[in-house]
Amino acid sequence: MNVIFASDHNAEPQDWIVPLQRELPDVRIVNWDDNGPAVDAQLAVVWNPPETLFMRETRLKGVFNLGAGVDALLRLPGLRADLPIVRLEDAGMGVQMAEYVAHALLRASRGFEQYQTLQQQREWAPLPDIQRAQWPVGVMGTGLMGARVAQTLAALEYPVAGWSRRGKDMPGVQRFASPAELPAFLARTRVLVNTLPLTPETRGILCRDTLQQLLPDAYIINVGRGEHLVEDDLLGMMASGHIKGATLDVFAQEPLPSDHPFWAHPGITVTPHVAAASLRDETISQIAAKIRGFLKGEALTGMVSRDLGY
Ligand code: NAP
Ligand code: GLV
Repeated sequence: MNVIFASDHNAEPQDWIVPLQRELPDVRIVNWDDNGPAVDAQLAVVWNPPETLFMRETRLKGVFNLGAGVDALLRLPGLRADLPIVRLEDAGMGVQMAEYVAHALLRASRGFEQYQTLQQQREWAPLPDIQRAQWPVGVMGTGLMGARVAQTLAALEYPVAGWSRRGKDMPGVQRFASPAELPAFLARTRVLVNTLPLTPETRGILCRDTLQQLLPDAYIINVGRGEHLVEDDLLGMMASGHIKGATLDVFAQEPLPSDHPFWAHPGITVTPHVAAASLRDETISQIAAKIRGFLKGEALTGMVSRDLGY
């Protein structure tokens, strides 16, 4: 059986194919070459594959996504509606996401940027003690990423709430569910963390209408997808002072164009889509286990709902 590997990760394809092949000795793993002959594969292991793959490989029985988000994959016009898609579940991403968000929150709430400036001025000037009650955090999406973030920040004793479609009960985290509870969730939130998947329902959810419902001096941490955020609305609300700062890992256009206003904005921190990477060893062992299960006809977790888009 042939399995296509098609990934635009930074690494050399062979760095992934060799260990994946070792885990799956009974299949033949072929690196996808858009200009080469069709492979007649039954399975594909992908990250941001070219759309031609699904137009040319018409006998695929399953696709395994080397990341959590499937928005780019689901956009490909050649992707058959009946093709099962299995996505990566955590595999070491949740803890990275928690670190990233905790870092952004602590930098703001503990005044680390101000201390950096004070150091440059050789000034010994303690800032007022932290009042956690002044830093209520709201996490949008309480799936594998959001739940880990919310629980980590709750363990640091910040007031934390989580909002999602169905809602999730977690110790120390206030639960909000469904569009009906979004206004109440926003109204108690100062630091808004977005870990939602990009779907038709969530595209543009971080817009003027939602951002203006946050508490004053708000902060935005976007680690979901760039298209969740209406960029001009964020810039406008930072100019008006309602939003004080933003830490952004994902952008509508990636790489972020060199003339984009986010680069030089004093209140915005930009990182190049690195909040939570697909770690090679964890990813390969999880995807290999999912492929073995799929071939045995077992029920798998991480099946993507084509109706919901995640
Ligand atoms: P997940 O486990 O599927 O969780 C998705 C969460 O979003 C669930 O809680 C879901 O609600 C909620 N949700 C989906 N649609 C919603 C809607 N319309 N309204 C309210 N809540 C909604 O996904 P995950 O593994 O946590 O990953 C989430 C996203 O993080 C990915 O899709 C990707 O875009 C992003 N990500 C980014 C990076 C990075 O490096 N920046 C790395 C990994 C992932 P229910 O619980 O009710 O289903
Ligand atoms: C990364 O952005 C992912 O979705 O895994």
